Amino acid sequence: MEAKMELRTHLLSPLAFLLAMGFLMGSFPTRASGSTFSFADSCEVTGASENFQASSDGSVWSLTLTNNSGCGFQTKQRYIFGWFTMKIKLVGGDSAGVVTAYYMCSDLGAGPTRDELDFEFLGNSTGEPYLVQTNVFKNGTGNREMRHSLWFDPTEDYHSYSILWNTEQIVFFVDEVAIRVYKNLGTAANNFPNSKPMYIFSSIWDADNWATRGGLVKTNWTYAPFVSSYTEFTIDSCQWVDPYPSCVSTTSQQWWDQPDTWQLSNSQKIDYAWVGRNLVVYDYCTDTERFAATGMPLECTSSPSL
Ligand SMILES: *[C@@H]1O[C@H](CO)[C@@H](O)[C@H](O)[C@H]1NC(C)=O
Repeated sequence: MEAKMELRTHLLSPLAFLLAMGFLMGSFPTRASGSTFSFADSCEVTGASENFQASSDGSVWSLTLTNNSGCGFQTKQRYIFGWFTMKIKLVGGDSAGVVTAYYMCSDLGAGPTRDELDFEFLGNSTGEPYLVQTNVFKNGTGNREMRHSLWFDPTEDYHSYSILWNTEQIVFFVDEVAIRVYKNLGTAANNFPNSKPMYIFSSIWDADNWATRGGLVKTNWTYAPFVSSYTEFTIDSCQWVDPYPSCVSTTSQQWWDQPDTWQLSNSQKIDYAWVGRNLVVYDYCTDTERFAATGMPLECTSSPSL
C-alpha cells in the first residue's frame, strides 16, 4: 500500500480508502476453508501449450497471448454451488484489445444451452483503466453484462476475484468486496443458473473488435507477448459426481449455502453500496434502449432485498 496509494487517494472517498486498505471485509468469505488447489492436479491446459507456463513450484501459472495464439486452462471436474476464488495479476502496459477471462461454465464447448458465470478483464491503452465485465448465463441466455472500474491497478499485483454461488444468490467479489449481486427470484424468467454443475476456466485472447473503447482501440502486437498470471486457486464446493443428485442436498457442511450466505452481511452491504455509487460503468438494467423490444429483464424491475 506504499507509494501508489497516494496517487489514487485523490480520486477516492474515505470509504474507498478504507476499502483499499483492507479494513472492510465481508464476513462469510473468511470462513472459506477450501484448500488451495494444485493447478496441475485440478486443471488441464487448453489452447497453445507453448503459451502456458508454470513456476518451478507449480504455484503460479501464466497464460500468454501472442499474435498466433492464446491459451487457457480448465478444471477437470465440475462443481455446483460454492465459493470459487483466484488471485490474478493482469497484463500490464499496453493491453488494449486483450481480454483475460476467469469464468465458470457448464459446458466445455460453450454450447447453446450452457450456464455460465463470467469475470472478463478488458485491457486498455497504457495508463488507462481496466474494466471488469461480469455476466450470468442460463441455458445459453446471457445479456446480463455489468462493467465496473476498480479501485486499484490490477496489473501491479495479484488481487482476488471470487464468485459465491448458492441457491439464493450469485455474488461477484473483488478482494472480498461484493461488486455484484444476482438474486434468485424463483421464476424461470429470472435466468438464475442453479441446476448444472460447472467447470472453471481461464483464458487470454484477442478481442480487439469489442473490448477496448467498444473496439476503437486495437491490439498493438508490438507489445506482445501479453501475460496474465494466476495463483491461489481455491474452491469450496461440491464436486459433481454422477449420478445426479449427489450435490443437491443442503447440509450443514456447506457453509456457502446457509441462511447467512443467502444475503450480504451488513458490512458487505456497505461495501456493495459504495461500489454501486462509484464504480459501475455499465449496467444492463439501466440500458432501456437495448431492451426496448423485449422489455427489461425481470430482475431489473423487481428489487429483491439484498
Ligand atoms: C479504457 O480507457 C478509456 C479512456 O480512459 C475508458 O473510456 C474506457 O472505459 C477504458 N476501458 C475500456 C475497456 O475501454
